[in-house]
Amino acid sequence: MKKNIVVTGGTGRFGNHLKSISTKHKLFFPTKNQFNILNFNSMLKYFNKTKPDIVIHLAGFSRPMELHEKDINKSINLNIIGTANVTMACSQKNIKLIYFSTNYVYPGINGNYNEDDPLKPFNNYAWSKLGGECSVKLYKNSLILRVCMTEKPFIHKKAFANVKTSFMYHDEVAKILFKLLNKQGIINIGGKAQYIYNFAKKENKKVKKIYQNKNMKIKVPFDSTINIKKLQKIVKVKF
Ligand SMILES: NC(=O)c1ccc[n+]([C@@H]2O[C@H](COP(=O)([O-])OP(=O)(O)OC[C@H]3O[C@@H](n4cnc5c(N)ncnc54)[C@H](OP(=O)(O)O)[C@@H]3O)[C@@H](O)[C@H]2O)c1
Repeated sequence: MKKNIVVTGGTGRFGNHLKSISTKHKLFFPTKNQFNILNFNSMLKYFNKTKPDIVIHLAGFSRPMELHEKDINKSINLNIIGTANVTMACSQKNIKLIYFSTNYVYPGINGNYNEDDPLKPFNNYAWSKLGGECSVKLYKNSLILRVCMTEKPFIHKKAFANVKTSFMYHDEVAKILFKLLNKQGIINIGGKAQYIYNFAKKENKKVKKIYQNKNMKIKVPFDSTINIKKLQKIVKVKF
């Protein structure tokens, strides 16, 4: 059935990929002025106008990740309070809420994390995303996606050959998303578990190998791979 879908943060990196997907659904991509997650009335006004069945909530603060250590107000406001506001607005209007969280909520040590595993966010960014999850989880008509995605082509000239993750490119996540609209609960989204260098090399033969030094302050978790069995039961993910 054709649905009205409001995408928050639709002007961001991933939102721009959603714009190019052809779908039977009617998608709305409000600007921050039309739909501000820190302004409850602006959200209700936009909902009254567009009558959405579903909200895909992307808006927030993601990068640069280091900034979440320095400007905690921005992290708390946009990712925790902003997401709580979106949840309350959806709950008030009985709108299905789909929230983009991250695989960084898992400890990032042994990998292959599934949706029921214990959580230990890797950094402040991940804590703020988990803070967002907490409010979304209170609302039953919701879906939390723990996403491991990156831009295509791979944006860095160098890639870690001793760090594993489950990257999937944005455009693939965008396609999969529309097959999950009627799901609830928590679902991991990502691709094959592999070293970042091996992933990047497939699209960019020139990418250089580097190694994350265990004795320095680590920038990314050594193994943030996720178990995608739950996703595979719904959509066949090709490697
Ligand atoms: N990128 C990844 O690899 C990745 C991986 C896993 C999960 N995620 C999650 O996926 C989501 C989308 O990521 P992204 O990389 O596309 O993010 P992004 O490029 O940083 O986009 C963030 C969006 O939020 C909007 N925004 C900021 N403050 C707002 C406010 N007060 N009210 C309404 N909108 C506001 C921004 O609008 P302005 O530009 O106008 O400020 C922008 O459109 C995020 O929640 C992120 O945590 C991303």
